[in-house]
Amino acid sequence: MTTVDLPLLPLGRGTDLDSERGVECPGDLPPASDPELVARARAAKAKLGERVFVLGHHYQRDEVIEFADVTGDSFKLARDAAARPQAEYIVFCGVHFMAESADILTGDDQQVILPDLAAGCSMADMARLAQVEACWEALAEAGIGEDVVPVTYMNSSADIKAFCGRNGGVVCTSSNAQTVLEWAFEQKQKVLFLPDQHLGRNTAVLKLGLSLKDCVVWNPRLPNGGLRPEQLREARMILWQGHCSVHGRFSPDTIGELRAEIPDVQVLVHPECQHEVVLQADLVGSTEFIIATVQAAPPGSAFAIGTELNLVKRLAAAHPDKRIVFLDRTVCYCSTMNRIDLPHFVWALESLVDGVVVNRITVDPETEHHATMALQRMLDLPG
Ligand code: 13P
Ligand code: SF4
Repeated sequence: MTTVDLPLLPLGRGTDLDSERGVECPGDLPPASDPELVARARAAKAKLGERVFVLGHHYQRDEVIEFADVTGDSFKLARDAAARPQAEYIVFCGVHFMAESADILTGDDQQVILPDLAAGCSMADMARLAQVEACWEALAEAGIGEDVVPVTYMNSSADIKAFCGRNGGVVCTSSNAQTVLEWAFEQKQKVLFLPDQHLGRNTAVLKLGLSLKDCVVWNPRLPNGGLRPEQLREARMILWQGHCSVHGRFSPDTIGELRAEIPDVQVLVHPECQHEVVLQADLVGSTEFIIATVQAAPPGSAFAIGTELNLVKRLAAAHPDKRIVFLDRTVCYCSTMNRIDLPHFVWALESLVDGVVVNRITVDPETEHHATMALQRMLDLPG
């Protein structure tokens, strides 16, 4: 994660908020290092034509999003990945777990490429298969092994998705967490929610009506998760102690200040934010929801948005008739999303033009088989 200290960030170009504060956005990313790269990316993409399909997550840099055939949140991209069966190459501009899901959901003859292999996700790394298996054994020892459905957020590695598939569980995204959890609680009385405690808690409490007392947090670094067997037996939601290192930074403290400063501001946040932040927000939803909400708002509306900065800045630029401010004192890009830059993108595309596949992401057949079960259970749910 890259952070830069600055005053609450006015992002809307030409808004009176800009002139009042006279603050240039110091969070601007530098332009692509070599302007010729844009022409090279265009040329390589044109040469590849229908053979390549470029997917771009909303948190990607502008210089990369410009070349995406489809943009979306994790859920939309998971569905769209399979939309071009004729494309030999899927270039995934996002992070590793998304590219793995794309490999699982696309045909065996299609190759998925992640332009920079260092584009991982700190949240996904917080749940390792051995840790999750140890937790699962502890649940069995506590006598509740048969009562729990494992649910993993899309932001997890393929082997965690496969673990869920093997054990009657399912994947969810921030777009459909409520629907998926409702399905899970129809199957059994308890859920083990991986790896984002905030999405799990926010959805359980604010959408399903569970109480905070129904939730316990399993710390994989402590013996028995730091929980007594009776705590596990009483809980409905067993939340994995993982979080997003970007969304976890937003704090409730700035919300009051913003409301005092911009009287009609609507606070719009992603459900990966801490529960205390979500409780004070007006609206909560996935990146697709955030975009749709801003688009549907009338001119003059004001939003303070708590999600990744590339997206917030793009929204501000696309809606100069609305006030869009970033919900924090620190500029906060997701450093791993930002790893996919134009030089890496051009390298990946030009290599394909030369007949060389670089940075291919593959999931082994056994993992793929079980992960598909968990992903398919999600895709089969309505919505
Ligand atoms: P989605 O809204 O796409 O689920 O994005 C959240 C996220 O952090 C992706 O890494
Ligand atoms: Fe992972 Fe958070 Fe970055 Fe998404 S924004 S890739 S959850 S660290």
